[in-house]
Amino acid sequence: MAKPANVDWHETSGMGVGAIMALQGMRDHGKVEAGQRVLINGAAGGVGIPAVQIAKWMGAEVTAVCSTRNVELIRSLGADHVVDYTQSDFAETDTTYDVFFDNQANRPPRVCKRLLVDGGTYLVVGGAATSRMFGPLPAMLRALTSFKVGGRRGATFIAEDKAEDLEILGDLMRWGDLRAFIDSVHPLDGVVEAIDLLGTGHARGKIMIDPRA
Ligand SMILES: NC(=O)c1ccc[n+]([C@@H]2O[C@H](COP(=O)([O-])OP(=O)(O)OC[C@H]3O[C@@H](n4cnc5c(N)ncnc54)[C@H](OP(=O)(O)O)[C@@H]3O)[C@@H](O)[C@H]2O)c1
Repeated sequence: MAKPANVDWHETSGMGVGAIMALQGMRDHGKVEAGQRVLINGAAGGVGIPAVQIAKWMGAEVTAVCSTRNVELIRSLGADHVVDYTQSDFAETDTTYDVFFDNQANRPPRVCKRLLVDGGTYLVVGGAATSRMFGPLPAMLRALTSFKVGGRRGATFIAEDKAEDLEILGDLMRWGDLRAFIDSVHPLDGVVEAIDLLGTGHARGKIMIDPRA
């Protein structure tokens, strides 16, 4: 896509796979409709930050889960409710959601199921890398197994590179409906530190490598 004139290079390249997966998750797999309630677990990372904004753009009522230091950032992106997971458990609620967009996979399937309206969708797109070889896949598959029966649907997917989706993201950035948040920018010889930072599981938005840095 052409870089939106109002957005810098880091923010533009920071959209990448995280925003594509947020768009495809909310639109194609969650089939989010205006007025629906959407829960986003892991709202402050490379996937979560665009997910909050795209769900809001689609007219959903968004509940987002992050830690204390990110609460204000996530609220500023438009989340209607922010749950600080260091203070309370987002699963301890009577509220049910139409779509539960989960990139942490840190709750047992029975809990994920209870959080959904009848006919709701549990969309698990990531999780802690519990397996050296398969990363978060085992945790994601475990989370999906209980959704074989009942009215609630479980799903996962891998983001697909599609030029038309990049065009949509470009337009959203142009209109000011979508912005990336850059955690930090590292030079080429800082790749190891950047990967280590990502590995903490607490990146705030995107970590960039820029040979010019
Ligand atoms: N299926 C696909 O196509 C696809 C594409 C891209 C990514 N993914 C997967 O999606 C997941 C997220 O990716 P990402 O790039 O957003 O990762 P990331 O940037 O590393 O996400 C880190 C974020 O997770 C939050 N977090 C950590 N522990 C948490 C907890 N207990 N509860 C809630 N939030 C917590 C952190 O927020 P705090 O600092 O506030 O804790 C941090 O902002 C990864 O597993 C990745 O592999 C899948």
